[in-house]
Amino acid sequence: MTDHIQISDDDGIRTVRFNRAEKKNAITQEMYTALAGALESAPNDGISVILFAGQLGVFSAGNDIQDFMSRAMTADLSATATMQFLRALARSKTPMVAAVDGIAIGVGVTMLFHCDLVYASKQSTFKTPFLNLGLVPEAASSLIAPRIMGHQRAFEMLILGETFDAERALNAGFVNAVSSEGDVEAAALDAAKRLAALPPEALRLSRDLVRGDEDAVVERIDKEAVLFAERLKSDEASEAFMAFMQKRTPNFKKAS
Ligand code: COA
Repeated sequence: MTDHIQISDDDGIRTVRFNRAEKKNAITQEMYTALAGALESAPNDGISVILFAGQLGVFSAGNDIQDFMSRAMTADLSATATMQFLRALARSKTPMVAAVDGIAIGVGVTMLFHCDLVYASKQSTFKTPFLNLGLVPEAASSLIAPRIMGHQRAFEMLILGETFDAERALNAGFVNAVSSEGDVEAAALDAAKRLAALPPEALRLSRDLVRGDEDAVVERIDKEAVLFAERLKSDEASEAFMAFMQKRTPNFKKAS
């Protein structure tokens, strides 16, 4: 159990909130376990919609870098809580809505590609610095991002690590609407309520059609994870993680 993920159910809507603001909502293994549990138990708990949220100013700074460092010792990532969460995202039968206010980095962005509706405040920024960390994209972002925004923009985001502001994210197609700071959760909750009011069986069938082949998504998650596990052990990644912890710029010439 961790209080870094807060889960509250109200009228069929489950709000899953990142609650580790002092570390910019960086996600640990315990948090992934809680996130996966919240998704997996939703159908049996009579939940119609999942709503992901953070705090004002920060959605999530992505995977905890310290956790990356300890996982560099693990040969096989397939049994980690991270993988359990990523597969649960891909396999979720419950519609997912996200409210992003502020920083979204790494898996804080790639999890949004699995959500059905995403709302962001004007101050939100989206960045996937996988390459800067010596890593490869995860969460099937290498498959889903190009589908959403086209190859070049996905390349810019996933490979170049370019930061997208809220307006750019809206134009790229992975954000539905941009609100003023403080209004984003209300917009997301309104959408969640509208989804929860739809006929459930028709919603389930239609959502499956729109989302397409989930096996292909899980297959890509697993394929990326094999490379990701290798990269975690690389000198490049270890230099990037050390540089982050020591609050300095990485020196990749030294690492190669
Ligand atoms: N993992 C572990 N700790 C993290 C973290 C992460 N992903 N992101 C932030 N933190 C911690 C910082 O180490 C710091 O801890 P400290 O107060 O004990 O020193 C605290 O959160 C606040 O972060 P700080 O860097 O001081 O805040 P900032 O406003 O200057 O910058 C970020 C915020 C999010 C831009 C910056 O922390 C960052 O780049 N984080 C790494 C993001 C990342 O690369 N994630 C992995 C993606 S694959």
